[in-house]
Amino acid sequence: MESLEINAAYDPEVPEITVRCRGFITSANAGEFQAQVDALLEEYPGAKMTMDFDGIDGITSAGLRVLLHAKKINDRLRVINTSPVVYETFEVTGFSSLFSVSRQPRTVSVEGCEKIAQGAAGAIYRLDEDNIVKVFMPDESIHTIRLESETAGKAFLYGIPTAISFGTVRVGDCYGIQYEMIKAQSFASVLKGDPDNFDSHVKDYTALLRQLHTTKDRDGVFVSMKEIYHEAIDYSAKYFQEDEVKKFKALIDSIPDRDTLIHGDFHPGNIMASGDGLMLIDLTRMGVGHPIFDLFEMAASHINLATSTPEIAEAFLGIPPETIIRLWKETLKQYFPDKTEEEIARIEKQLMGYGRIANVIAPYIGQSLTEEQVLFYINEAKTHLVPIIDGLIGSVDW
Ligand SMILES: Nc1ncnc2c1ncn2[C@@H]1O[C@H](COP(=O)(O)OP(=O)(O)O)[C@@H](O)[C@H]1O
Ligand SMILES: [Mg+2]
Repeated sequence: MESLEINAAYDPEVPEITVRCRGFITSANAGEFQAQVDALLEEYPGAKMTMDFDGIDGITSAGLRVLLHAKKINDRLRVINTSPVVYETFEVTGFSSLFSVSRQPRTVSVEGCEKIAQGAAGAIYRLDEDNIVKVFMPDESIHTIRLESETAGKAFLYGIPTAISFGTVRVGDCYGIQYEMIKAQSFASVLKGDPDNFDSHVKDYTALLRQLHTTKDRDGVFVSMKEIYHEAIDYSAKYFQEDEVKKFKALIDSIPDRDTLIHGDFHPGNIMASGDGLMLIDLTRMGVGHPIFDLFEMAASHINLATSTPEIAEAFLGIPPETIIRLWKETLKQYFPDKTEEEIARIEKQLMGYGRIANVIAPYIGQSLTEEQVLFYINEAKTHLVPIIDGLIGSVDW
């Protein structure tokens, strides 16, 4: 009998069940396969189901019927990492039009390549003159990586200046994304290196932000920021009281709806200054919603961070705290050209208040934080957000 090994992992963050399969799926083991899949579907109703077929050498009609059956129960079933032979089986049977089926990523080697950056998510290597590869940590889910790659492609199609993504690749035991190499310096170094033209650089920075905030997600491909925040708040719920969690959600829900783009992590370290103007990178958290989602996140990463933990802010944004504060003030002024100083001051206060939600969702964003760091952020939220939250809910009128 052909052997079939199945391993399932559940990721509550997405939520998603990943079923890793290895071997050959035939009529001899299809019954057992179906029983295991059914049990998982029952245990995690509503979760996305991803069949990782990386180790699958072949599948017969009995195996395909199991997938068809699972798809009836869970419409979000997809199959990833199929070998060329298995992909062809999906193609000839027409099953590739019934499911989302993707092939195994190409393999690239970074041996001998220059490492040009080390970020929180992974390391960036220069593959050749025109390409880089962002190699993620071995435990990063392929789902998240694929999402970043797809997001970059979609944003590019909407005219957002960003690097072309050449899709997910395999690098040893890790996954990565191959991107066009942007021949540019970071916006952080531009700000540091050319302080005389500071305001004019901020003008480009603000124009890029505004471009995002006026680009409609016309095909409805991006996830709503409200949904992301709900998920992130749920992730931290165990640290708060029930009514606090309710209020965090009410705060997010009271933001007016919009169908324009949000970067989600807009700061000088994620912007590169090329000869053709500024380019936006690191689109992992891109979504759709009211511009306040970017602006309050910036209030958190620029101001709240620069004042509470200046060394972390500098490491994160690539510029010293006093430059961060200057950048923030000038950005606000240029972002709201028609507003008076008083109105801007009111909005700034609102953004800084809203920005405290970053402390609530810190465990979700930084999943490798130590328990001590997590408790620090939770305490920040309890001290700075909870007391003012009633006044903030429903206050966004612009
Ligand atoms: N397409 C690219 N071309 C050139 N350099 C890049 C490119 N993408 C990323 N980098 C460099 O790698 C750094 C980290 O990349 P980023 O995507 O922001 O990763 P992280 O998620 O770790 O913040 C960037 O600040 C930049 O210096
Ligand atoms: Mg980054």
